Amino acid sequence: MTFNLRQTVPATSRLTNIYHLFMFTLFRSKPEPRTFKPLSTDIHAHLLPGLDNGSADMSEAVSLASGLHDLGFVHLYCTPHISKSLPGNTPDRLLAVFDAFRRSLSAAGLDIQVSLAAEYLLDEGFEGLLEAGPLLCLPGKRLLVELQPNRAEVDLRTLLFNLRIKEYLPVLAHPERYHFLPNYNKVISKWHERGYEMQVDILSLTGHHGAATRETALWMLKNNLISSLASNVHNRKELELLNRSLESSRVRDAVRKIGERGGNLPV
Ligand SMILES: [Fe+2]
Repeated sequence: MTFNLRQTVPATSRLTNIYHLFMFTLFRSKPEPRTFKPLSTDIHAHLLPGLDNGSADMSEAVSLASGLHDLGFVHLYCTPHISKSLPGNTPDRLLAVFDAFRRSLSAAGLDIQVSLAAEYLLDEGFEGLLEAGPLLCLPGKRLLVELQPNRAEVDLRTLLFNLRIKEYLPVLAHPERYHFLPNYNKVISKWHERGYEMQVDILSLTGHHGAATRETALWMLKNNLISSLASNVHNRKELELLNRSLESSRVRDAVRKIGERGGNLPV
């Protein structure tokens, strides 16, 4: 005997089912988009080749920029490391590599907005750079700074204060990773009270930098201590991890939250 659904379910019941399916499809909550577009600008990326531990060559630099753009970032800041251990990374050299990078993007037919800033390590050489100025900044005289591991908090306090005197706004690069600071949660809260901005790495939210770092990043998110979420991308492997991070509802949640506040560089 052949089982025929059409014959066993009355026509009115079939219509009711179709109606319910239609209403469910119409009103079910839309999944959050898997994109970094709400962040708008990536303020921390090691795209420029051959300058630090970032991309190895121009081909990788172009594919990283293209990948970040595909993931939703509309404007990319190149932020090579500047530190005492990289004496060749002078503003003139960075500018020359940045110009070559822009030409390569255009030769590849990629219309992507890119700008140059830097990530300064607050090491023994930094005060000299600050005195000599000007420094390579993000908009609003924001200066992306990274802490030297195991530096005493009192030295950092002085350095950050000196930055404010020169009217730079410190943007702490990935403070969720500074577990070397004693009572770092309190230190982060203090920085926030002083008006410093805090940039969290997207991959910190996935646990890529360890469980403790992820917990700190989530604590910062919950307490509205995050100013920006950035890729801090160095290579193709990290680009792929960033792509996969969008599968995480935590990451999408954080992106939405920063997006609602105007993105990474609110006007
Ligand atoms: Fe970095």
